Amino acid sequence: MSKDKSQFSCAQCAYKTVKWLGCCPSCNTWDSFTEIATSAHKKNSKTKPAMLVPLSSVREKNQSRLLTGISEWDRVMGGGIMPSSLIMLTGDPGIGKSTLLLQVGNALSEHKTVFYFSTEESLEQVRLRSQRISLMHDTLLFSDNASLETIMHTVLQERPDVMILDSIQNCVVSNTQTIPGSISQLKEATFQLMRLAKENNITILMTGHITKEGVMAGPKTLEHMVDAVFYLQGEDRYDTRILRAVKNRFGTINELGFFSMAHDGLQQVPNINEHVVNEFTNAPGSCLVSIMEGSRPILVELQALTIESKLTMPQRVITGLNHKQVVLIAAILQKYLHIKFSNQDIFCKVAGGITIKESATDLGIALALLSSYFQQPLAEHMLALGEISLTGHIKPINHIQLFAREAAKFGIGTLLVAKKQKCEGNTNTIKYLENVYELLSLFEEN
Ligand code: TYD
Ligand code: MG
Repeated sequence: MSKDKSQFSCAQCAYKTVKWLGCCPSCNTWDSFTEIATSAHKKNSKTKPAMLVPLSSVREKNQSRLLTGISEWDRVMGGGIMPSSLIMLTGDPGIGKSTLLLQVGNALSEHKTVFYFSTEESLEQVRLRSQRISLMHDTLLFSDNASLETIMHTVLQERPDVMILDSIQNCVVSNTQTIPGSISQLKEATFQLMRLAKENNITILMTGHITKEGVMAGPKTLEHMVDAVFYLQGEDRYDTRILRAVKNRFGTINELGFFSMAHDGLQQVPNINEHVVNEFTNAPGSCLVSIMEGSRPILVELQALTIESKLTMPQRVITGLNHKQVVLIAAILQKYLHIKFSNQDIFCKVAGGITIKESATDLGIALALLSSYFQQPLAEHMLALGEISLTGHIKPINHIQLFAREAAKFGIGTLLVAKKQKCEGNTNTIKYLENVYELLSLFEEN
């Protein structure tokens, strides 16, 4: 005779076991196991079998995307928000998530019914923010109720087109046996919202916190449960905010949206390159490079500072670039040009708080390092585009035509590229470089 088996589940992380345990082996929480019934063995189940159909018989839904008119947002969404999707916006506290969603909500409310549930802030606080960004359309309706049950009930009754939930972590989920604020509660809330979105044709935008380590608070599993996850990034010191997709079921994840946090909300920076070129000072230690972000070539200023070290182990402080990449370029320059970077402290960063990984920035890093070492600026407005091999050779890179066109648009006259790089048909002066020895010719006799 088969017995119904019971299971125990951790209320903190939803780890399951067949025996009760005092301490969860997954999250190390004590006394968190509760017994749960498993329905797998119930024989008298009245469950109906699922209906199976060929895809050709499924009716095509012609859903047009929800456009806000905030083009930086719309582009990152993949050409507007896909209706009935569950979207998560996450980022450090104070980065501007609530501000962005308020602006998006306001824009959407011009043509759609939008409800904004603020579970973190009171209506007075939201009103203050709204006043600050001079957006107070009466078409956008607010509530500061934090109970997920009440929120879902309201939405089911009123059926808005879009629901904004700020934030999911501050929702109270009452009908579960889970600990408030725990990972399993967060998963439960997300699951319920996903069903609400899909079964009732409601688009849900929600915010989520990230931890100090930079991952979305709660589990990575939350990312798997939603349709799209966007990070709003930036550094406190800079006003620039970058909207980046880390997952998007309805668009590419390479697109970036640029904003700037102003006194009256997030302002779009549709032409980030113009901003970079205007800010570029052409001081010793700085060099312009270009990278592809999605379909757009982005101009970036690299900055390096080298200074004789007083330490036995000189410092390498690198922000926004791959640490190993900078150390490697310094080693290549030392090997072939006999410049003693081994007794220099090296500081290297990307202006504006952007993070880049491309090896196409090798040449730019080398020039920034040399320019700081010799304390000589590069000839004004040059764009360095090349990879450097371990043998000191400069290698061609992809997308050169796009970079060249972008450079010409902003009056960057000279491109420094690999000798083997093919770049026909553009208006810039091209300076071909074969190996790192030739970099010295860009600086005056030392
Ligand atoms: P907020 O949207 O509350 O951030 P989050 O929801 O990600 O925690 O933004 C808070 C910060 O933004 C706060 O430091 C004030 C600043 N801010 C501005 O600089 N200008 C503005 O117009 C607004 C609304 C906020
Ligand atoms: Mg907020």
